[in-house]
Amino acid sequence: MSLRLAAVFGALSLVWLSSCGGTRFTCDPSTCPTGCCSATTGRCEPGTSTEACGSGGAACSSCGAGQTCVSNACVTPNTAGGASGGGEVGGSGGGAAAGGTAGGGSAGGAVIQGPVTWYKDVLPVTQTKCLSCHRTGGIGPFPLETYAQARPMAAAMKDAVVARRMPPWMPSATCGTPFVNDGSLSATQIATLAKWADDGAPEGNPADAPPPPGPVGQLPRVDTTLTMSEPYTPTAARTDDYRCFIVDPALSGARFVTGYDILPGVTAEVHHVIVYIVDRAAARTKDMGEAGPGWTCYGDSGVSNSPGPIGAWAPGTGAVVYPAGTGIQLQPSQALAMQIHYNTNGGTRTPDQTAIKLMYAPAGASVTNAYLLPLVGNGFTIPPNSMGYTHTRSFANPTRLLPIKVYGLMPHMHTLGKRITIAGVPSANTEDCLVDIPRWDFHWQSQYFRPQPYTVPANGSLKMTCTWDNPTTRTVRWGEGTDDEMCFAYIYATP
Ligand code: HEC
Repeated sequence: MSLRLAAVFGALSLVWLSSCGGTRFTCDPSTCPTGCCSATTGRCEPGTSTEACGSGGAACSSCGAGQTCVSNACVTPNTAGGASGGGEVGGSGGGAAAGGTAGGGSAGGAVIQGPVTWYKDVLPVTQTKCLSCHRTGGIGPFPLETYAQARPMAAAMKDAVVARRMPPWMPSATCGTPFVNDGSLSATQIATLAKWADDGAPEGNPADAPPPPGPVGQLPRVDTTLTMSEPYTPTAARTDDYRCFIVDPALSGARFVTGYDILPGVTAEVHHVIVYIVDRAAARTKDMGEAGPGWTCYGDSGVSNSPGPIGAWAPGTGAVVYPAGTGIQLQPSQALAMQIHYNTNGGTRTPDQTAIKLMYAPAGASVTNAYLLPLVGNGFTIPPNSMGYTHTRSFANPTRLLPIKVYGLMPHMHTLGKRITIAGVPSANTEDCLVDIPRWDFHWQSQYFRPQPYTVPANGSLKMTCTWDNPTTRTVRWGEGTDDEMCFAYIYATP
């Protein structure tokens, strides 16, 4: 693994040296689907602050006096006694679950006065925070796109948001936030859904509806869809099967991948997918060397000189759009190898045909080459019957000479994982919390993007801390198998 790190950073420093030409950042709706474009910085902002409020890549607005930014829109809060207007700020208190059952539209400290209707108040929340999954064809068990669909679910929606089961969002609100793709609800949004249910789910006036959302939970544009050329049935020889398959974008010139959406074929058996950039000819040789579709590959693609992955999928990962002005470069001599970990503990072995959708930067766009750098926190031994076992690893900036800009973090553990934290250590005795997942849930993994990169200085490092609960009678160590554990992250970074 250290060899691969070295190789990746070798490439990184090369790019750093050759890209001194002053990168210009610009954004538009295709590169900024979740937030708004700031006219002052030219960057995609999360669109949730009062100074820069907006969604769908539109120009950020600066909210007027007395207004706040709720669901990416400037609103004038309802004036009520004592608690009015404090809802947004109070959201980090974490007290929503406890206080949520009180009636009168109160949850998490926010108080909603006046009538709450589907079109005016609820739809703006569901559009931005639920439809990525709860839409026709999405991974949510029912759609919440229309009033007719949502009305019978009103009580269940209230329960799920007040208990903070929905939307699924793992990171702590007090470490490394805000994230561009923050899926959590503010206290005001929770209180809005609660009051709507309590009031009997009124419909309201369709004229109050927000404009229809752009593509939610999907890539704003799909330039190519690459599917495994034939189905593969996981082996019966073992329950964890690691197999790599070539999917070939067949490029005629270099392109930057700026977004991807991995579509696992059989979700009951696909445990994770990592898509590596590989040399096409070398990958074909690998493919020919083994019978059946693809080849066996543990750890990585097994194809030498891979510059690393372009993306990864684990349960919970939706479409990923990389930060504006960045992307991962693909050369025409390169293809992709999808490493799929099949776990067939469930018993059945069903033929799988996983696919990936890619979005490229427009030809000629100014893009900074980014890398998904692995942090491998191996070397732990979790004793049997141990709760709260903790392991910490430091990762010095391997270039030693160049700062690295961290835009995204994708922490990963298996099912015994309890907590994972990544911090930046710019100098001795200084730590900057970058992401903290206090209650790890294997089913909701995601990559978290920062609005502005965090710079790890040349002599700085990253520190990752993992905690597990191991109620089993097994000693658990680092491993690829479902019963093994990991303390791992991909860091999306540029020179
Ligand atoms: C990232 C995808 C995702 C998002 C975003 C999401 N859901 Fe869900 N939701 C699911 C999935 C998958 C299930 C079924 C599995 C489960 O319950 O964990 C579910 C289940 C539910 C349920 C029934 C089970 C329960 O826990 O009560 C409700 C109600 C619900 N969602 C409401 C919402 C609402 C309201 C929002 C937005 C405020 C939302 N969800 C956002 C994926 C999502």
